[in-house]
Amino acid sequence: MAPRSGPPESARPPLFSGASPPEVRAALAPLVEFQEEGVPLEALGSMVEERLLPHLMRYHLPSFHAMFNSALEEGAAWGARVALEWNQGVTNWQVSPGGAVLEELCCQALCSLFHLPPGADATFLYCGSYANQQALYMALHRKAEEEGFDLGVEGLQGFSDPSRLTVVTSRDAHFSLRHGVRALGLGERALVTVEVDRNRRMSLASLAATLSAVRETRDVFCVVATAGTTSTGSVDPLDDVAQLCQERGIALHVDGAYGLAYALVPGWRHLFAGAERADTLSWDPHKQMGVPIPSSVLFARRGEELRRMALFSHYWNRPEGAAPDPGLKSIPSTRPLSALPLVASLRHQGLAGVRQRLRRPLEAIRSVYEALREEPGVELCHEPDTGILCFRVVAPGVEGEGLDALQERVYEALLAEGRRLVSITRLDGRPALRLVAISPEVGTGDMLETVAEACRVGATLR
Ligand SMILES: Cc1ncc(COP(=O)(O)O)c(C=O)c1O
Repeated sequence: MAPRSGPPESARPPLFSGASPPEVRAALAPLVEFQEEGVPLEALGSMVEERLLPHLMRYHLPSFHAMFNSALEEGAAWGARVALEWNQGVTNWQVSPGGAVLEELCCQALCSLFHLPPGADATFLYCGSYANQQALYMALHRKAEEEGFDLGVEGLQGFSDPSRLTVVTSRDAHFSLRHGVRALGLGERALVTVEVDRNRRMSLASLAATLSAVRETRDVFCVVATAGTTSTGSVDPLDDVAQLCQERGIALHVDGAYGLAYALVPGWRHLFAGAERADTLSWDPHKQMGVPIPSSVLFARRGEELRRMALFSHYWNRPEGAAPDPGLKSIPSTRPLSALPLVASLRHQGLAGVRQRLRRPLEAIRSVYEALREEPGVELCHEPDTGILCFRVVAPGVEGEGLDALQERVYEALLAEGRRLVSITRLDGRPALRLVAISPEVGTGDMLETVAEACRVGATLR
């Protein structure tokens, strides 16, 4: 691929120091030498500035297109400052009346924003992995109820044969589902994966065939579709999957941790049709909304099903309490005021501003795809549904394992340079470089320059 004109790489601001793990460890070690004497804030500030900040990643630079991190949006940053200043726990009315009610109202407003039906509700959680885990627990709880017992009391022993319990998802689903089945005590043998199509969306035919094939030996209590897979951003055919689940009486969870935000963007919304039919949906505002980490949301179409999480005590989340009690909808007993940065961000930008912020990286990745389609120096791995494009550097005369190894080496070289970043993943076992456009600052030109740089690096490494 031809080099692009632009400033020389050496003039580009680094994304981070480029130091090695031992070097960073050496720089930071003095920070954790806990001593009897306190350190004035000014001295502490200098130490952090000198020793830590150079090694932090600059998400706001347009040459960062590796992961799902973004710099804070202005309204979100303002809301986060207020939340930090007040340090509210928002578990229930008695610990923060305003915080608890804001979370409840925000959850309801988000249900409307995503067009969930009346009666839907949501809970804030620390991360998408926990949201997925809770969704699996809720699905299993529902299965137990169908069988006439309370999972919370009886546990897995309540099932006549727990070894039959199964979750079905696509081979590209996020690894947190593996954590989910592990944590439920089912083990990874309970997770069955189905094939994906050319664009790495769950294959409906493979799902239908798998559900039929396992009927005699397993009880599928949940299908998990992904609305924006981690590796390629592909959106599974949600409406068709929902239909299949409905016909077979199986719970559907949609993992929209990465992608669900794009349901708000006209032009991409159609990909998410059917999401509202899911029993539960997870969403990570901390990925592309520019709100502070961590901030995740789990939606439930029938809001009362979140009550499966409710545990009461005499001093906290009291059964007698009639006031708002967000702490009854998920495990965390101490909960941050995550709703405030999100509310502040949505109000500050306005929904038109939010859509624009989300649309920019989607359009950028689409243009990158169009620009690279005929480019002989790279092989594109899929057509992008959302803001991710995986590609492989191609080198004349290098094939098979050699070409696989080259992708790894290009990735390592770019990371070591620290001036522009892509990530690496595996698709069907083969390494692929992954461009992620997440922040509104990332443009087509930036990403094309990165691909050109990857090709240049690749040519020197062959
Ligand atoms: C599709 C998907 N699900 C779940 C997760 C896990 O989210 P978190 O990192 O917030 O735990 C991710 C993270 O990238 C994801 O992409």
